[in-house]
Amino acid sequence: MQTVQTSPIEGQKPGTSGLRKKTAVFMGPHYLENYVQSTFDGIGGVQGKTLVVGGDGRFFNDRAIQVILRIAAANGAAKCIVGQGGILSTPAASHLIRKRKADGGLILSASHNPGGKDEDFGLKYNGPNGGPATEAVTDKIFARTLDIDVYKISESVDIDIDTRGMTSLDALEIEVVEPVADYQELMETLFDFGKIRALFAGGFTMRFDAMHAVTGPYAHAILEGALGAPKGTVMNGTPSPDFGGGHPDPNPIWAKDLMNVMYGPDAPDFGAASDGDGDRNMIVGRNAYVTPSDSLAVLTAKAHLAPAYSSGLTGVARSMPTSRAVDRVAESLGIKCYETPTGWKFFGNLLDAGLVTLCGEESAGTGSDHVREKDGLWAVLLWLNILAETKMSVAETLDDLWSTHGRCYYSRHDYEAVDSEKAGAMISALRAKLPALAGTSVGGLTVEAADEFAYDDPVDQSHSAGQGIRIAFKGGARAVFRLSGTGTEGATIRIYLEHLQTDASKLDMKPEDALAEVCNAAREVSDLTALTGRVDPDVIT
Ligand code: G1P
Ligand code: ZN
Repeated sequence: MQTVQTSPIEGQKPGTSGLRKKTAVFMGPHYLENYVQSTFDGIGGVQGKTLVVGGDGRFFNDRAIQVILRIAAANGAAKCIVGQGGILSTPAASHLIRKRKADGGLILSASHNPGGKDEDFGLKYNGPNGGPATEAVTDKIFARTLDIDVYKISESVDIDIDTRGMTSLDALEIEVVEPVADYQELMETLFDFGKIRALFAGGFTMRFDAMHAVTGPYAHAILEGALGAPKGTVMNGTPSPDFGGGHPDPNPIWAKDLMNVMYGPDAPDFGAASDGDGDRNMIVGRNAYVTPSDSLAVLTAKAHLAPAYSSGLTGVARSMPTSRAVDRVAESLGIKCYETPTGWKFFGNLLDAGLVTLCGEESAGTGSDHVREKDGLWAVLLWLNILAETKMSVAETLDDLWSTHGRCYYSRHDYEAVDSEKAGAMISALRAKLPALAGTSVGGLTVEAADEFAYDDPVDQSHSAGQGIRIAFKGGARAVFRLSGTGTEGATIRIYLEHLQTDASKLDMKPEDALAEVCNAAREVSDLTALTGRVDPDVIT
C-alpha cells in the first residue's frame, strides 16, 4: 500500500449527476485518484464497507475500475461487487446496491454524453438506498476535493474483472457478477412477462435502439430472450467504448436511425431507445413520437395495468421543467404530484418515504420505487405491459391522454457551449426582472406569474434555492430557464417551452406551431440574442 502526497485539483465539484469532465481530465495525473479518495473521505471512509462498482463501458471505464479497486483496498473496504467486464447499467447498479445491501456504489458514466479519448467521462457515488448521493453528501465530497492532501492506493497488479467469481486484492474481496441476471429477475417481478410474450407471439413488432451503449446486453436478454421478440428487434446492441462514434442520447435528434424506421414505410408498432448508461428512454410509436413528459403522464394513468402497480400509485413526482401533463393525470386519480428541482437525486427522499411510486423528468428519465435511479428498460417494459393489456396503438394511447386531460405541447431548446459569463449574466438579468414581470406583456403574451424555483424537501426539510426561472403566461403557456449542471464545456442554457391546450379542435397542431408564441416571448424576455449572441438553439428536443 502506498500513501501518495497530493494537492487539490480545481473543479472537482459533482453536479446534478456526479462528476463529469473530459476523459483526458480524468486521465490526468492524480485526478481520478484524488476524486475517488475525496469521495471515500466525504462519505466517512470505506473501512469494512461493501461497494458496487460498474459503468457503461465507455473509454477508460476498465482502467478507472482498476484504480477504484486499488484505492478501495488501500482504504480498508471489505468487498467490491463488480459487473463482469466492468459493465453495469445505472439502474442495474442501483438494484444491486439494494439487493446486496451494499453500503453504496461507484458508477462510471457520463450518461448520454459521447464517450472516447476526446469526449466525456464521469463518476458518481450512490448511497446505500441505491440512489445518487444527496446534496449534503456531494457537498462533503466537494469540500474534501478542496483540501485533499493524501490518497491511499494499493500497488497490486490488475485484477481480472472479465471472469465471473471471487477474487481478492490485498484484504479486499472482489466478486465479479454477471450484469444482467439480477436486473432481469427484478423486471420479472414487476411486469406480466407472459402477457408481453403473448403480445410478441401475436405479431406485435418493435425496434429497440441500444445506441451502442450499455443496454444492448440487457435488451438482447430480456426482449429477444425472455420475451421472445424476433432477433433484430434490438439494434446497435453491442456496447462500444465510443458508442459507435455516436451520441448515446435517446431523443429524436440523436436516435435518428430509430426515428427513420418509425416514420418509414414499414414502421413497427413500437420503438424505444436508451442512453449510454441505460437510465434514459425514448418512446415512439408508428408515426407517433411521445414526449418524455407525455410518457410520464401515460404511465401514471395506466400503471395499474402492470402487476407491480395494480393497487395504484401513492403519488408521483416530476422535475420542475417537466410539463404539467402528469399533474393533470394525478389530479384525476386523486394522488399528489410533487414538483422537484432537476436531477434524480431529489426523487430519492420521496421514494424512500413512500410518498411517490413513479417519477420522471422531461429529459427522458422515468422510474419508480423499484430502484433509486431512472430506468430506461423499465419504462419500455411498462409501456409494453400497458399495450399488451389495452391493445391500443401508441397514437391511440396519446389521443386518449390528450382528449381526457388536454395536450401539453412541449419542447426544450438547448444553447450549448455558451460563454459561461454571458450565460450567467443572462440569468442574473432575468432574475432581476422577475419582481416586476407579472401583468406585463412580452412578445404578445401576458405574464401571469414569474419566479425562481426553490424547493423545500418535505422529508428532510433541506432547502434548495436557485433551481430555475419560471414564467407562466395567461392562456396556458410557460417558459422555464436554467443552466445545465452536466455540461463539460462552457455553459448550456436550457429553455423549456410548454403550452397547455384544452380546446379539442387544437389537439393536432405541429408542436413548433403550438409553441411559436411562447418561444418568441421567451427569447424576448431573456434578451437571449443581445446578451449571448445566440439566435437559434443547437439542439431542439
Ligand atoms: C440533465 C437533465 C436532467 C437529468 C440530468 C442527468 O441535467 O436536464 O433532467 O437529471 O441531465 O441525467 P442538466 O444538464 O439539465 O443539469
Ligand atoms: Zn443516463
